[in-house]
Amino acid sequence: MSIKDKEKWDTKYQQKPELLSTRPPSSMLVKYCDRAPGKKALDLACGSGRHTLFLAKQGFHVDAVDISSVALSHLRMKTQEYDITLTQSDLDTFTPHKEAYDLIVMTNYLDRALIRRTSETLKKNALFIVETYMQHPENEKKETNPDFLLAPEELKSLFDTDFTLLAYKEFWNESHEIYRMRKQAIVVQKE
Ligand SMILES: C[S@@+](CC[C@H](N)C(=O)[O-])C[C@H]1O[C@@H](n2cnc3c(N)ncnc32)[C@H](O)[C@@H]1O
Repeated sequence: MSIKDKEKWDTKYQQKPELLSTRPPSSMLVKYCDRAPGKKALDLACGSGRHTLFLAKQGFHVDAVDISSVALSHLRMKTQEYDITLTQSDLDTFTPHKEAYDLIVMTNYLDRALIRRTSETLKKNALFIVETYMQHPENEKKETNPDFLLAPEELKSLFDTDFTLLAYKEFWNESHEIYRMRKQAIVVQKE
């Protein structure tokens, strides 16, 4: 496990517990989740679990993965009545089981190699929804590592011809976020 990532995020969540408070789900996920061919979902880098809980309330069984034990402990308290499995794992080396999921969501986290590995595991008609921050001169958080920011239109280039593009947008992030940042979101479906 990447001890550095774990320590960084555990400390962040301990110092800013508001990051674990209830927040609205991605509007792309809300709009498109019922296009998934079945009810098995995976939330990669689940954090506070806003998408894990949203999907569980829509009737999905959700596997949620994150490296932070602080985030997972917090989420565990909210998941008892739902069909949710929490796993502490390092996404640097994680690959989903082949054809296991109808919907995979990854938000506010960027690992291009993980997107590629995950794409290869998807079954026919499964959805992959990715939403995260991108480069923009007016981004408020200037010190973000450029490796964690998408180039304009980049998400579209990360999926090959085996995928149908259902939706793509670039937009300013939600008002509950600390810094105003430009984002990209995509919904693709495996053919
Ligand atoms: C900005 S939060 C996003 C949370 C959630 N997806 C959302 O949109 O609300 C990023 C999450 O990635 C997790 N993370 C960072 N590095 C990781 C790694 N190498 N493996 C697994 N999770 C990681 C952090 O613990 C944190 O919960």
